[in-house]
Amino acid sequence: MHYHIFTLFPEFFHSPLSCGLMNKAREKEILRFSLINPRDYALDRHKSVDDRPYGGGPGMVMLLDPLVKALNAAPVGCKKILLTPKGRPLGQRRAALLSREKDLALICGRYEGIDARLEELFDLELISIGDFVLNGGEAAALCLMEAVARFLPGFLGKQESTGEESFSAGFLEYPHYTRPEEYSGLRVPEVLLSGNHARITRWRREKALENTLKYRSELLEEKVLQPEDIDCLQKIPRPRPGRNLHLVLVHHPVLNKMGRESTTSLTNLDIHDIGRVWATYGLGGYYLCTPLRDQQALAERLIRHWTRGFGAQANPDRARALSGIRICSSVQEAIQEIAHKAGVRPVVVATSATGTGNIRCKGVRELLSNSPVLLLLGTGYGLAGSLLDEADHILSPIRFLEGYNHLSVRSAVSILVDRILGDFS
Ligand SMILES: C[S@@+](CC[C@H](N)C(=O)[O-])C[C@H]1O[C@@H](n2cnc3c(N)ncnc32)[C@H](O)[C@@H]1O
Repeated sequence: MHYHIFTLFPEFFHSPLSCGLMNKAREKEILRFSLINPRDYALDRHKSVDDRPYGGGPGMVMLLDPLVKALNAAPVGCKKILLTPKGRPLGQRRAALLSREKDLALICGRYEGIDARLEELFDLELISIGDFVLNGGEAAALCLMEAVARFLPGFLGKQESTGEESFSAGFLEYPHYTRPEEYSGLRVPEVLLSGNHARITRWRREKALENTLKYRSELLEEKVLQPEDIDCLQKIPRPRPGRNLHLVLVHHPVLNKMGRESTTSLTNLDIHDIGRVWATYGLGGYYLCTPLRDQQALAERLIRHWTRGFGAQANPDRARALSGIRICSSVQEAIQEIAHKAGVRPVVVATSATGTGNIRCKGVRELLSNSPVLLLLGTGYGLAGSLLDEADHILSPIRFLEGYNHLSVRSAVSILVDRILGDFS
């Protein structure tokens, strides 16, 4: 692999490329490096490589001409990578693919970046090494060079391999231990001393899953899990923030077709389906809110049938789903009951299909680690303005960037609760 590094600071690379594995790889000719300074291609007396930005603003912008001339001298067919915060984040999979290239040109920006027309002049792959801003692309290029080099045959020692490292299998790595067996009262896990390779392999897999679930659970979303992995994940104790999430299905005050405040009737399907969401996600409370006595009586009858009557015998799962429902006359009543049980007033989060909201599902998830949250779910044409005004937050609507987003309340609840509490969220 030949790295062609385009940089205004070639000296940046001297030390990192002359020590450790990178140096050994250079000696073994697994890696070659060329440092190309665009300044050497600048034609004016001052060897200028930057200028002020059109439109004003702070900082300087790298000039096109010296860099274009430098890049034109790169080998034909050489893959060109621009290190930039707006690029696709570098991952292990991308690093493995890049290791198949013969030549990689790494373009390091400086100052405010490079004149944007560079991206139109060359076929560039844009890569970022994370959501932060560095002084220049050099540190990013070094990260990429190391990550890619580790996949080259002969780069790592015989004993080492990238196969078991973090991200390679889609998991974080298991923990390592070395001598002594005991340090400050901390012992190396017994299984690692057992000599039983099957047990050690199983233990390492379990610890890799545990680490991934604990630190980077979103990685598991992309992974095809084996049945034994799922068994293992189910056994790992983890926080259950769902207990802190309460739902209230509001039938008053809501809006009607004309946009006036009114009261809706109960909907059997909503009651059942939201109950099933409540049970699936292990939620705290599920309130049916209606001030109408006859509707309350109807709800009680329905719930009795499914939780204690014939329905419960016929369908015990449904009995469980409806077992958490409580009937209340107002949202205030639900808030007071939760406050009474939890010893603290819940944060009230209203939902709406319009507007943009002021909190996302991730924000609600964060709230749950410290306090109970009551999610207000509107029926009819949505929650009345008074409820939206009094809520602590309004959750961003599902698909608010699209023209049509008219979901039933039960569909919306399923999507929102999963975004807040999904297995790997
Ligand atoms: C000070 S930064 C310019 C940042 C730019 N004004 C912005 O806000 O996106 C200078 C150069 O550092 C490099 N750089 C900074 N952060 C990076 C990152 N996270 N990943 C890759 N390259 C980065 C890029 O080459 C960039 O052109």
